[in-house]
Amino acid sequence: MHALNSQAKRLLVAEQARFSRLHPQSLALAKRTQSHFLYGVPMHWMNDWSTPAPLFIKSAQGVHLTCADDIDYTDFCLGDTGAMFGHSPVAVAQAIAKQANHGLTAMLPSTLAPATGDALSDFFGLPFWQLATTATDANRFVLRWARAVTKRNKLLVFDGCYHGTVDDTMVDVVNTKTINRPSLLGQVYDLGLHTISVPFNDLAAVEQALSKGDIACVLTEPVLTNCGMVLPKTGFIEGLRALTNQYNSLLVLDETHTISTDRGGWAKAHQVVPDFLVVGKPIAGGLPAAAYGFSHDMAKRMQAEKDQAPAGHSGIGTTLSGNMMTLAAIHATLTEVATEVAYQHMLALAETLALQLSTMIKTRKLPWNITRLGARLELQFCATSPTNAVEARRAQNDILESAIHLYLLNRGVLLTPFHNMMLISPATSQDDIARLIKHFDACLDAILAA
Ligand SMILES: Cc1ncc(COP(=O)(O)O)c(C=O)c1O
Repeated sequence: MHALNSQAKRLLVAEQARFSRLHPQSLALAKRTQSHFLYGVPMHWMNDWSTPAPLFIKSAQGVHLTCADDIDYTDFCLGDTGAMFGHSPVAVAQAIAKQANHGLTAMLPSTLAPATGDALSDFFGLPFWQLATTATDANRFVLRWARAVTKRNKLLVFDGCYHGTVDDTMVDVVNTKTINRPSLLGQVYDLGLHTISVPFNDLAAVEQALSKGDIACVLTEPVLTNCGMVLPKTGFIEGLRALTNQYNSLLVLDETHTISTDRGGWAKAHQVVPDFLVVGKPIAGGLPAAAYGFSHDMAKRMQAEKDQAPAGHSGIGTTLSGNMMTLAAIHATLTEVATEVAYQHMLALAETLALQLSTMIKTRKLPWNITRLGARLELQFCATSPTNAVEARRAQNDILESAIHLYLLNRGVLLTPFHNMMLISPATSQDDIARLIKHFDACLDAILAA
């Protein structure tokens, strides 16, 4: 790996120079944007790419982006899942345009509310829903409900988790002690007082924590996707369901990324029924929207809590959540874009891509692997898929990652800047896959020859 790192470093330097040559307009925009935006970008993480300056986007349609320098890209990042069903899907764009002249937000349900409830229920299989504007908010609201209905304070999460910027979940484990994540800015509370973090795929550690009887809920993605991809061992999530039932805790599954598994997400595909299911990012086709679903029984418990509470600010919900525009976009996305046919296409292409990437890696005897969750794939720098965050972190290699990303970006192929993640959308074609394969093949040669 050491030799590969030096080779990747040389390639990275060459590709940074190439980016600057190819992107004079992006460089000029970056200079101007410095005047009024921190780090020169509307959101500081827009700078977290391996490019010397951000790539400024002129337009996006399907899986193609055009940058300020009029270069075309095939997008496998897809807004880190926000655009998983393609950029500006026609049905969503039409629904937004139709709604745009008839009100955007009113603090009242639009006439599309019943059909949107039907669509959410049909898609994910849970009967009751509430909306939020981001998945972060949906997680935060669910934690509040979970604590309210169980009358317990604590939360159990897994090492390496990410559920958006929910402070309660921004923890690390050091010598089995849960501490604030050192990267978390401006948090003055000791999050370890109410959050416990244990290793993923470790049911014994989960049971030990739950047996104390003070945990309101276990919050997890069915597959960890934010520390590299970590698949659950057979029976792990089912085990969580059984243990949370046994110790009267709740199981919250965050399907914001695992919606890639199949239509309806991981839980539906594996017939696990959580107490709460959280989903965000692509459900409104790229417009900010999120939702959380729950059972009849949970709805009764939540309503009982709310009815008993004094009137006033509950802290569950924000003004623009569930607005008229959002309902139109969610309805169009779930009923017209994220269809069975769309998923069949996505899964078949993802399987083909995984196979082709694996073959290229094997041919060169590189100790890497491809981990796949439906329409989501990840290249990992380890011979077999990791089983927890410690193994996943060990497989990360920033230099190799940056070199691969930038090499591909300079040839019109975008991967997600975090890890080596690739998403297949309903708009991805065989030609798009061929473009990635061709340049990935050449990239491996370039690294090995650099
Ligand atoms: C699993 C998961 N949940 C929630 C979120 C938060 O989404 P948002 O940033 O849209 O609030 C993310 C973001 O990456 C995520 O990966």
